[in-house]
Amino acid sequence: MRRYAPWLLVALCAAGALVASSAVSGWWWCAAGPLLALTALGGWDVVQRRRAPLRIHPLVGRLRYRVREPAEPIGGGRDADEFLVPSMCPLPPPEEEPRVRVGGPECRLPYDMALMNVSAMSFGALSAQAVLALGRGAALGRFAQDTGEGGLSDHHLRGGGDLIWEIGSGYFGCRTSDGGFEAREFADKAALPEVKCVSLKVSQGAGPGGGVLPGAKVTAEIARARGVAEGETVVSPPRHRVFSTPRELVLFLARMRELAGGKPTGLKLCVGSRRQFLAVCKAMLAEGVTPDFVVVDGSEGGTGAGPPGGADRLGMPLTEGLITVHNALVGSGLRDRVRIGASGGIATGSDIVRRLAQGADYTNAARAMMSALGCVRAGRCHTNTCPAGVATQDPWRARALDVGDKARRIHRYQRETVRSAVRIMAAMGVPGPGGLGPGHLLRRTDARTVRSYAELYEWLEPGALTAGPPLSWAADWAAADPDSFG
Ligand SMILES: Cc1cc2nc3c(=O)[nH]c(=O)nc-3n(C[C@H](O)[C@H](O)[C@H](O)COP(=O)(O)O)c2cc1C
Repeated sequence: MRRYAPWLLVALCAAGALVASSAVSGWWWCAAGPLLALTALGGWDVVQRRRAPLRIHPLVGRLRYRVREPAEPIGGGRDADEFLVPSMCPLPPPEEEPRVRVGGPECRLPYDMALMNVSAMSFGALSAQAVLALGRGAALGRFAQDTGEGGLSDHHLRGGGDLIWEIGSGYFGCRTSDGGFEAREFADKAALPEVKCVSLKVSQGAGPGGGVLPGAKVTAEIARARGVAEGETVVSPPRHRVFSTPRELVLFLARMRELAGGKPTGLKLCVGSRRQFLAVCKAMLAEGVTPDFVVVDGSEGGTGAGPPGGADRLGMPLTEGLITVHNALVGSGLRDRVRIGASGGIATGSDIVRRLAQGADYTNAARAMMSALGCVRAGRCHTNTCPAGVATQDPWRARALDVGDKARRIHRYQRETVRSAVRIMAAMGVPGPGGLGPGHLLRRTDARTVRSYAELYEWLEPGALTAGPPLSWAADWAAADPDSFG
């Protein structure tokens, strides 16, 4: 009720002025008129469904929160010195939106991934309404929603979208009583038809040392879903129990895929050192096992779960991480078996095309999707007082988010962003994502020099590492050990 106080006060004053206009003097109408108009405006704020902050804070919300459209990435700045190369002979955009088949030789149920999907965000970090709206939007547009590491909740399943079920080091949703991995529960949930892929989160850009869910957000429902105590801060352990070497990581991914009935299985990481990822590639080669996808998260990525930690300098930014993973897989001769997803500041069609040109096959977006949900970037995700009902477990605030309206916005936003990417590719004379390469992306390096990514970075030939690595890769390749992260 406190949130309605300013509006109620205005209404009270309006009533007072109205009484005074008949009892004292007609001049009171000068005050009563505007006050009545404000009272009506506050009433409209409460009943309208498009802007959750206004439903929560009628009148006052107009002064405090301005919703920005998700046209710009939140957080990371835009790089005006980078541009894509248009063709003098463009192509007509294809009728059908391109999709990327995810599923290597060991996968029995490949999945056709959209070019832009909902990046991992847990129920817990997000409200039930936000999770549901994302899922309904994904179902409308036939794209995928990553559950995040907080478990596969009923809200994800009710959304009806294609799900990528992510597990992190807390193994929420498939967790033994002492915090280990529970294989039976994992297999049962992974078998659900809504789950199209399963993913192991090794690390993420903005979440060093394991995710945090502040106690204020650990409601009874979330505590049940995760198998933790209500009201207590949940910290995912900084490292996994199921692997401690690259070889164990790769073998665990193979186990996950078997338990998931052959569904596409992948990992998500923010790349730290090139040597460590090469060690994972060596383990893949040694065991003859590859993940079906690798999602590369840039250090510029976001997290809504914990307090802001200034972790944006831990790990490689997306450009470096993506090019490293792409090259490592190409050089190991494994690139055609593994799809690469990219996340970190992706919000527009040109963001998608840039990342595809740098080596990704598809992209995921978290904060841009939050913007489409009505996030006003109040920076209060970890306090449970999100004014947009997006990142809160306060039922009163969360209810202000209108699921139907936001699902349609999510759908429209993803559709228009992918359409824009497709139009850009056509303008570049490229028939689809497969036709893009580093030569299509230019960067100004100083006032007089513009160079393409093909020139700026080294791009390995298929199998170059196994055949005998070039000098620039030789030391890391030699030191990469499939039995140690070093
Ligand atoms: C509210 C919120 C919750 C997140 N939760 C997870 C999570 O559970 N697991 C994960 O792998 N990444 C999580 N992330 C990171 C995103 O999936 C994504 O990798 C990162 O934010 C970069 O993408 P963006 O720039 O589009 O936000 C979360 C991000 C946000 C903003």
